[in-house]
Amino acid sequence: MSAATPLPQERRLVTAIPGPKSQELQARKLGAVAAGVGTTLPVYVSRANGGVLEDVDGNSLIDFGSGIAVTNVGNSAEAVVAKASEQLAAFTHTCFMVTPYEGYVAVAEQLNELTPGDHDKRTALFNSGAEAVENAVKIARAYTKRTAVVVFDHGYHGRTNLTMGMTAKNMPYKQGFGPFAPEVHRVPVAYPYRWLTGAENCAAEAAAQAIDLINKQIGAENVAAIVIEPIQGEGGFIEPAKGFLPAIVEYAKANGIVFVADEIQTGFCRTGQWFACDDEGIVPDLITTAKGIAGGLPLAAVTGRAEIMDAAHAGGLGGTYGGNPVACAAALGSIETMKELDLNGKAQRIGEVMLGRLRAIQEKYADSDRVRVGEVRGRGAMIAVELVKPGGKEPHPEATAAIAKACHAEGLVVLTAGTYGNVLRFLPPLVMPEHLLNEGLDIIEGAFATV
Ligand SMILES: Cc1ncc(COP(=O)(O)O)c(C=O)c1O
Repeated sequence: MSAATPLPQERRLVTAIPGPKSQELQARKLGAVAAGVGTTLPVYVSRANGGVLEDVDGNSLIDFGSGIAVTNVGNSAEAVVAKASEQLAAFTHTCFMVTPYEGYVAVAEQLNELTPGDHDKRTALFNSGAEAVENAVKIARAYTKRTAVVVFDHGYHGRTNLTMGMTAKNMPYKQGFGPFAPEVHRVPVAYPYRWLTGAENCAAEAAAQAIDLINKQIGAENVAAIVIEPIQGEGGFIEPAKGFLPAIVEYAKANGIVFVADEIQTGFCRTGQWFACDDEGIVPDLITTAKGIAGGLPLAAVTGRAEIMDAAHAGGLGGTYGGNPVACAAALGSIETMKELDLNGKAQRIGEVMLGRLRAIQEKYADSDRVRVGEVRGRGAMIAVELVKPGGKEPHPEATAAIAKACHAEGLVVLTAGTYGNVLRFLPPLVMPEHLLNEGLDIIEGAFATV
């Protein structure tokens, strides 16, 4: 629940989307902000909480994006605002590396407890997901004294130089921004829907191919880290076929390689579990988190086995703002809210409703001559549909963009994703009221009819 007066949990359109005031602001944006910083839906937000975003024209939109999987606890959640406000008034910054404070330590303790595995752990805090991934690689290199990093097809890890190199998709993330950091190697992932010999063979074949490539082209003894998202986010919510992740973990363990789970998008109740790794009982050596951790304030972390985390020398990790006290206070409020409101249970319920309704849409359009739902997938409140052209599995990015646009016009914020741009992805705040969830799904169903 929100700290400020809660907004009515309703969709309300009083102008076209975007409205005149948003259009004015967008014109100012084009004159002031670098063109490389894009905007999915140029509706300028004035307030937000629960399941809605209110814009400067007085429209109230249903939010199926959570600012890309960030506001899991909802915008301006009560405990987040209370703890962050108290901290703002007390002090805003000292730099933890200069004169420390309790909030940072408390967040580290929480992460050590909540992340998979009951071994001895340590945590370091940073500002963004990409920065956490960079630091996970630094730590793995310091520990193993090796250099190579293995990543996967369809993976996304950020926009800094190293993480661009670790990201699979060229446009828009990498085009024109190279050269990229060396010693990053890409191997196949078990993408069941598109595995050529069939989903049933996917886990074993993909793992064998990935391992063979590492052995033959890199040499296991040169690999510091294998980094993977347990559900690939920007790649299109690809859930690696069951059995793939455990096989890769086992290989990493047998070869002294640090296994890093990038849970920046999947973490903090998003998939109906604290972390997506929990689903197959995966215990990563290191886990990177960000996004949902602090209810919207910028915070990120690397958490992992004490002996690995402690391999970097004192002064080797950190940064001016990493673990900012206000962001740490917000994280403590956010984690408290997740526990108190049972957001894992709420995410599971969102998943049940969405999967049921989206599978009904898949059936309804099974014989369409314009667009078909190739697959409905995901877990908890991280659900996607992959759209294809009739008669096969050819990706249909045009229909995907058209459906997203039709949803936006009706006041529903949806995002697209996928290597082929043909995935509609849904990431509602976990506090989304069920009537708005269903209204959003009605809009999606209606949008299919308009394509
Ligand atoms: C899996 C994953 N890793 C890393 C990142 C990068 O995080 P940030 O944008 O906070 O740098 C993202 C962001 O979308 C992500 O989804």
